[in-house]
Amino acid sequence: MGSDDGYTGNGGTPSGRAEMSRVLIFDTTLRDGEQSPGISLNKPEKLEIAHQLARLGVDVIEAGFPITSPGDFESVQAIAREVEGPVICGLARTAHQDIDAAWNAVRDSERPCIHTFISTSDIHIKHQLQTTRDDVKGQTRAAVAQAKGYLENVEFSPMDATRADLEFTAEVVQIAIDEGASTINIPDTVGYVMPHEFQAYLAGLYELVPALHEVILSVHCHDDLGLAVANSFGGVLAGARQVECTINGLGERAGNASLEEIVMLLRTRRADVGLDTGVNTTELARTSRLVSRLTGYPVQPNKAIVGRNAFAHESGIHQDGVLKERTTYEIMDATTVGLQSNSIVLGKHSGRHALRKALEEMGFELDGQTLNTAFKRFKEIADRKKQVTAMDLEALVTDELREEIPGYALEWFEVEASSRRPPHASVSVTLPEGGSATGTFTGDGPIDAVFQAINAATEVAAKLSEFTIGAVTEGQDALGEVSIVLAVDGFTGAGQGVSTDIIDAAARAYVRALSVAVARSRADEALGLPETTTP
Ligand code: KIV
Ligand code: ZN
Repeated sequence: MGSDDGYTGNGGTPSGRAEMSRVLIFDTTLRDGEQSPGISLNKPEKLEIAHQLARLGVDVIEAGFPITSPGDFESVQAIAREVEGPVICGLARTAHQDIDAAWNAVRDSERPCIHTFISTSDIHIKHQLQTTRDDVKGQTRAAVAQAKGYLENVEFSPMDATRADLEFTAEVVQIAIDEGASTINIPDTVGYVMPHEFQAYLAGLYELVPALHEVILSVHCHDDLGLAVANSFGGVLAGARQVECTINGLGERAGNASLEEIVMLLRTRRADVGLDTGVNTTELARTSRLVSRLTGYPVQPNKAIVGRNAFAHESGIHQDGVLKERTTYEIMDATTVGLQSNSIVLGKHSGRHALRKALEEMGFELDGQTLNTAFKRFKEIADRKKQVTAMDLEALVTDELREEIPGYALEWFEVEASSRRPPHASVSVTLPEGGSATGTFTGDGPIDAVFQAINAATEVAAKLSEFTIGAVTEGQDALGEVSIVLAVDGFTGAGQGVSTDIIDAAARAYVRALSVAVARSRADEALGLPETTTP
């Protein structure tokens, strides 16, 4: 990183000043983003996203909340051990065992960080924490001191700060800085603040806590009123040099500030604002697709920057203008966010070597059994589809080569569909305890029949809550992609499937989602986990 990146090389400890022209990007897709209902990423999926975030060039990856479950702990630890480049951060409440868990999870990173938080709003102090302001101050002091005893880079957040008394929040922030916090993050936890109000709040904080100039000021905004990016930008104008955000704006309730939007806002208006990030913007579209596939959260077509219509022109006047000169109706070039058409095209005569090379060009290093599996699936698809493009390969590799979720797997299905009688499906699935089971069902439609037959085979009464179907590319022979969210006994699971046959894609997605939901409910039964405050 350059000298203006806010990091001194001191184990990745930021040295913050509002004069920095670089805004640090703190990605919390794997922590706050993962708190979106129905998202449950396993370790290999989290690692895959973390590697892509490193390729994207984010400064900090908040990899999880280690105390919440052994699975979360292991994922943060694996990311800390494997992912090079960004600072790897673990979240912790102020409790002693939370900080210990976060430290143990991130300690093997070259650039570890602990992010600890406690609420400063009276609403939270009275009703949720059921404590006093004095106790909040004491907990802040102890937590930051404990974390600082382990490592240099400590971030502190006064949760629900924008609804809290400014003077009290300032006292707590001062304590965190006195104890050595290197980043102070101000969250708009419930997405309530307005941009001008947030700027005034931060200006007030700078006035009350002059030492804030010596650390990195960060902002963390939620999108309940659709203002997360506007508020984050307001924060930057007020002096923040770190923005906490997520890919596709994922996160609790309405989500967090969208990473791609804040990054492209700063890049596109760099000349006017005088600030930029270190993000390699050409990786934005691919990162968005990967996160969407693995979380099962589709990106709305008109989503700024990464929506499939973000650079499409429908009206004749606009099309005419763009054909004459792109800038007539485009403020950004689609290629700068990685939406250029990729030249890779393979067909049914392409061999293993060509596939491997194409995947390598796209950043996927496959060997041995994984390459064999990829090649087998590629051949099946190339037999049915004339040209296999980079987008197809990306969808296929993301879907097929993820480590299998321990649980159920689809063996085969048969479905009879007709407009004259109800469709009938039979399926066979392998079971987590070994062996396989078959199920049949006569349903409303062929896909419903397959889903109900899977329920019958597994003897799990899963309830479908979201079903999204899309095409990976254009054309009649395009690969179909299905995302599913379902619930089993109140535990949600998401899954995706890709195939030229949409029923096959749907069945694969359903079995994956079912496996996730069942694994979550069993893990919860098995573990007596300490209760966490989901921020
Ligand atoms: O929204 C919030 O307040 C949080 C904190 C942990 C920063 O996510
Ligand atoms: Zn949050």
